[in-house]
Amino acid sequence: MIPNLSDVKLINLPKMEDPRGNLSFIEDEKQIPFKIERTYWIYDVPGGQTRGGHAFKEQQEFIVALSGSFDVVVNDGNEQKTYPLNRSYHGLFIPAGIWREMTNFSTNSLALVMSSTAFSQDDYIRGYPEFIKYKGL
Ligand code: TYD
Repeated sequence: MIPNLSDVKLINLPKMEDPRGNLSFIEDEKQIPFKIERTYWIYDVPGGQTRGGHAFKEQQEFIVALSGSFDVVVNDGNEQKTYPLNRSYHGLFIPAGIWREMTNFSTNSLALVMSSTAFSQDDYIRGYPEFIKYKGL
């Protein structure tokens, strides 16, 4: 079944609180529901810019705001929800088949994205009308 917005989850990560500074971590499939195949990060985003604006057929993702803040807007073709991310001890799990955009980046924000697949242009659904068609809506 193609996932919908109820499958998008904010997941808390372990947080080792320490007077020397806190530490969080992810081990494959213990904190997030897929094996990490690729990691990328988005940084130096000029004010007012938007990233994303597509969906994936196969790729699942987990997004953490390692620094600063930004909003992740997810849309399953029926409804839309905005997740503000601004902590490094939680992140947003986005299954395949969800339209997503990242907006409202603060100065010096850093978005870490863990992906379940290697990079593939063919996995992208780049147009919203194509996405709606893909979802059978
Ligand atoms: P894109 O996924 O469109 O960025 P965003 O969703 O953040 O707006 O990727 C931007 C460019 O970077 C595009 O030319 C593809 C390339 N790219 C890679 O080569 N490898 C990767 O792992 C990713 C995520 C992107």
